[in-house]
Amino acid sequence: MVNKKITSIDDLSAKDIQSIADLALKFKKSTKSSIQKKSKNIFNLFLEPSTRTTVSFELAAKKLGHNSININFEKSSLSKGETFNDTMDTLISMKPDALIIRDKNNFSPRNIVKKHNIPVINAGDGTNEHPTQAMLDYCLIKEIFRNRKIKIGICGDIKHSRVAHSNIKLLSKTGHEVHVIAPSYFLNKDEIKKINNKVVFHKNLNSIKKLDILMMLRVQKERIPKGSKNMMTSFKRDFCLRSKHLLNMPYLMHPGPVNRNIEISDEVLDNYPKSLILRQVEMGVYLRMACLKYILK
Ligand code: CP
Repeated sequence: MVNKKITSIDDLSAKDIQSIADLALKFKKSTKSSIQKKSKNIFNLFLEPSTRTTVSFELAAKKLGHNSININFEKSSLSKGETFNDTMDTLISMKPDALIIRDKNNFSPRNIVKKHNIPVINAGDGTNEHPTQAMLDYCLIKEIFRNRKIKIGICGDIKHSRVAHSNIKLLSKTGHEVHVIAPSYFLNKDEIKKINNKVVFHKNLNSIKKLDILMMLRVQKERIPKGSKNMMTSFKRDFCLRSKHLLNMPYLMHPGPVNRNIEISDEVLDNYPKSLILRQVEMGVYLRMACLKYILK
C-alpha cells in the first residue's frame, strides 16, 4: 500500500488542497467532537525550535483522539551523538502510525518516506518547504475571500524561507496573483521563476499599487551567513513595515515568530486592525487536524 504524505505542496493536487481546506473550515465551525473510534500513535519529531507548529500538531492529534508523542533534539539521544538515521530506525521500530518532522536539512521528510513505509508530514525542512503553514494560510484566505482570486504580496527573506516556497507553490496552484517583494540579497529570482514564471517582482514596498494581502516573512537569522550583520541593518531600514506602507489597508499576514522592528514595527504589530497573525495561529490547529485525517485515511 502506498502511504499518503505531505512532504511538499507538490504531493497535493489542487483537489486535495481544496478538500483539506474545506475539512479544516468544517472542523473550525463544528461544535461536535471529532474523536476517532480507533486512536493512532503520532510521533512529532521537532529538531528545530517551534511554538506554533509543534503545539498545534499536538493539539490537533489530541482533538482527534490520537496519541501525540513529542521528541525534540535536546531531550533525544541525538544530543548524545546518535546519528539521524539511527534515530529514525529506532523510532520506526516502535511502529508509529504517522511521523511529523521538522528538521534543519532540506528534503529529510521526503528521504524518510523513501526509506520507511510510513505516512509523513513535513513540519518545515531547512529552507525548502513548510506545506502545512501554506495550507493554513490558504484556509484563512478561503474563509475571508471565498473563491475570489486575490492579489497577494510576499515580502522579506524569500531566499531562506520555506514558508515562501510552499506559499508560492500553493497560491500559484490555486490561481492567485503572487507578488514578491525583496532585496536582492534575500532573493533567488531564478528559483522562484522555476516555481511560477508569472510571479511579479518588486524591489520595495512602495511599488505595489493595491494588494488584498501583504504577507511579511521572518528574517531567518539562523540561516544567514555569519558576518552579514549589515544585511539585517539594510533590511530593517528599507523594509520594516510601518503605517505609511499600509495606506491601501491590505490584510496583514506573518507566519511567526516576528522579529519586532525588523520585519514589522511595534506600531503596526500592536495596532493594525487588519492583522491576521493570530487568526493564522488559530487556523493552524484545524488545518493540522484535516492534514492528520488526510494522511491517516
Ligand atoms: N510558523 C511557524 O512555523 O512557527 P513555529 O516555528 O513557532 O512553529
